[in-house]
Amino acid sequence: MIVKNLKLKNYRNYSNLRIDFCDGLNVIVGANAQGKTNLIEAIYMCSIGKSLRAKFERQTIKWNEDHALISLDVEKKYGKTTIDIILSKSTKKTVRINKIPIKKIGELMGELNAVFFSPDELKLIKESPEDRRRFMDISLSQTSKSYFYLLGKYEKILANRNKLLKLEANKETIIDTLDIWNEQLANVGSKIILSRINFLNLLTPYAVLSHKYLTEEKEELKLEYSGIKGSTEEEIKQKFLDALKKNLEKDLKLCYTTVGPHRDDIKVSINDIDVRTFGSQGQQRTVALSLKLAEIEIIEKQTGEKPILLLDDVLSELDSNRKKRLLKFCKKTQTFLTCTDFEGEADNLIRIENGEVK
Ligand SMILES: Nc1ncnc2c1ncn2[C@@H]1O[C@H](COP(=O)(O)OP(=O)(O)OP(=O)(O)O)[C@@H](O)[C@H]1O
Ligand SMILES: [Mg+2]
Repeated sequence: MIVKNLKLKNYRNYSNLRIDFCDGLNVIVGANAQGKTNLIEAIYMCSIGKSLRAKFERQTIKWNEDHALISLDVEKKYGKTTIDIILSKSTKKTVRINKIPIKKIGELMGELNAVFFSPDELKLIKESPEDRRRFMDISLSQTSKSYFYLLGKYEKILANRNKLLKLEANKETIIDTLDIWNEQLANVGSKIILSRINFLNLLTPYAVLSHKYLTEEKEELKLEYSGIKGSTEEEIKQKFLDALKKNLEKDLKLCYTTVGPHRDDIKVSINDIDVRTFGSQGQQRTVALSLKLAEIEIIEKQTGEKPILLLDDVLSELDSNRKKRLLKFCKKTQTFLTCTDFEGEADNLIRIENGEVK
């Protein structure tokens, strides 16, 4: 898919912007604090329906204004979609697809598929499992609305189970009621786990290839789902129920659920060495990038459409060979790349100065 254009009104430091994009590599250049990341953030918001940076979305509305608008046209194989997001300081945000407001954010999933990468993404490998779960969840949600809804359902059941664990009531009563939640948790949870395992199985060969490509064949990447595993929903469900039973005392003591897909992780190794513990910063960054490049391939495989690639400030973080190879890859898919200086061939060079195109 191709983002044809973008309109911003009172979004971050943009008052009124209209900008057209081309199919290949769109390079957004400008000095620090001019609005490059804001632009990428706006495009990504149309993909996942929320801001990755802002804690509260109203923070993205231009200071001293009450409303903001993000609007873009996406061209796909079978037609065009217009996505509008209207943010307001006083009411809930409105998302429209082809001018029709949607009721649930899940309806937006798949309308604009995007793979996002920024220096922050180093966290993907280095920091808590939560970041790696989010990577799987965002990617899976883009290709499957039902996965997105499953996640919401799981969170609700989990919250109820945790609430019960915190309850100061008779232990026997709690244990009896827990059974109901266990069954529901394992039912939905096993579907989530199986989707993630399938996702990783699909992703791995592409990630291995991307990583070899970026490192000039020097490194062999390995990915593995770490948590409850199995090859069928029934098998996973049973293992999940067993684990809940085994962890009962611990859960009661800690007052939360200590096992399940909300605790799982991806184990990443290079040449059989754990990257999270022993990898260099550059290695961790390259692995994160390899995962993202692989994500592009599998989203395309599953939907028949190439997602767009958003690269915020990543060139300065890579050595010159990896940089060259990445830019070559970017030619294959519509890419939005921000940087302060750019040497190379862009299909479209956009200069940003203080919230305006120069
Ligand atoms: N709600 C807002 N209203 C107005 N301006 C804002 C708002 N939120 C952020 N800004 C401003 O937008 C400016 C540009 O931010 P942005 O992160 O896009 O810069 P950048 O071009 O990516 O810079 P860098 O090269 O440092 O990453 C910031 O200086 C900030 O003050
Ligand atoms: Mg920036």
